[in-house]
Amino acid sequence: VSKSRSSSSAPVVAVVGATGAVGQEFLAVLAQRKFPFSQLKLLASARSAGKPQEFAGKTYKIEELTEDSFKGVDVALFSAGGSISKKFGPIASQAGATVVDNSSAFRMTDGIPLVVPEVNADALKGWKLGQAAPGQGGGGKGGIIANPNCSTIIMLVPVTPLHRAAHVKRMLVSTYQAASGAGYAAMQELETQTRDVLAGKKAEPKIFKYQYAFNLFSHNSDMYPNGYNQEEMKMVHETHKIWNDKNVHIAATCVRVPVMRAHAESIYLEFEQPLDEAKAKELLSKAPGVSIIDDRTNNRFPTPLDASHQDDVFVGRIRADISMNGASGSSSSKGLALFVCGDQLRKGAALNAVQIAELLL
Ligand code: A2P
Repeated sequence: VSKSRSSSSAPVVAVVGATGAVGQEFLAVLAQRKFPFSQLKLLASARSAGKPQEFAGKTYKIEELTEDSFKGVDVALFSAGGSISKKFGPIASQAGATVVDNSSAFRMTDGIPLVVPEVNADALKGWKLGQAAPGQGGGGKGGIIANPNCSTIIMLVPVTPLHRAAHVKRMLVSTYQAASGAGYAAMQELETQTRDVLAGKKAEPKIFKYQYAFNLFSHNSDMYPNGYNQEEMKMVHETHKIWNDKNVHIAATCVRVPVMRAHAESIYLEFEQPLDEAKAKELLSKAPGVSIIDDRTNNRFPTPLDASHQDDVFVGRIRADISMNGASGSSSSKGLALFVCGDQLRKGAALNAVQIAELLL
């Protein structure tokens, strides 16, 4: 396949980390959305090489990821961890592929777009599969685009339409994060520990430091000297980059909870302009990628199970922040609270990356 892909031929697609939790979701999303391709390369470690993988009614073989894997590839969806992305992302880009990278390796690199299509699709102006990236983000004949952190994506899909209307001055978020964010092994750990505890056995932590079943703990990412962990600081820095606005004040508390695959977040927003509940609901009802579940009478609000395997981010508990300006519903309210749930593997990872690739077709 030559690099000068004619506009009529479908792209050659590679999935790096195809056997992983996000990799498998990439395949599900590509099939579901009928992403056009002329060839599909499924790459993972040597451990998986030769294993069969069904895709859209055909059986493919997993191949070992090597430096030669990207010849002729137009788009490479990466989710095999940060160190694999750091090494093979630039190799893929040099070979002419447009890389959409799900790891944190390049998110904060200047010149590399960090994109949530509903929020800042304009960051991909001039990008096209099979063509060198404008501004040469990743170097080489292709380019690199970064997929944001799952918690950042799930927060910004519903918060951005509100930000556009009333400008967020300050945002406080607490997350309730699922096992899937730490990969298949963590999902298995949750299941195994739950079975063990119910059988009267001791839970054996392997992936996480603490018992996961029937427990929760501060996010497992490394701590910074300021007392915040990496996940929390990703939400701050990535939001600043995606919104192209460093002046929004953001603080996060990230917690791992024993839920399989959808993250929940409690979000408090302080705006520059007034934004009441009714207006917020109206904006959210029209926002792409957002569904509202907000039934006070029946105490019916989004849950991780509502969001699991779904594309949309679900929003509820839409209410004035009474700590800020008095009575709930006040039309002069500049504070708003939300509770959101989104599928970590889907909109938090694979779906967002495939939507990015679709913008480049
Ligand atoms: P493999 O299954 O062969 O180990 P998860 O996020 O669910 O833990 O998945 C991680 C993904 O990254 C898997 O597809 C895994 O492949 C892949 N991976 C891990 N290490 C490597 C490596 N050294 N080279 C290529 N792929 C890797």
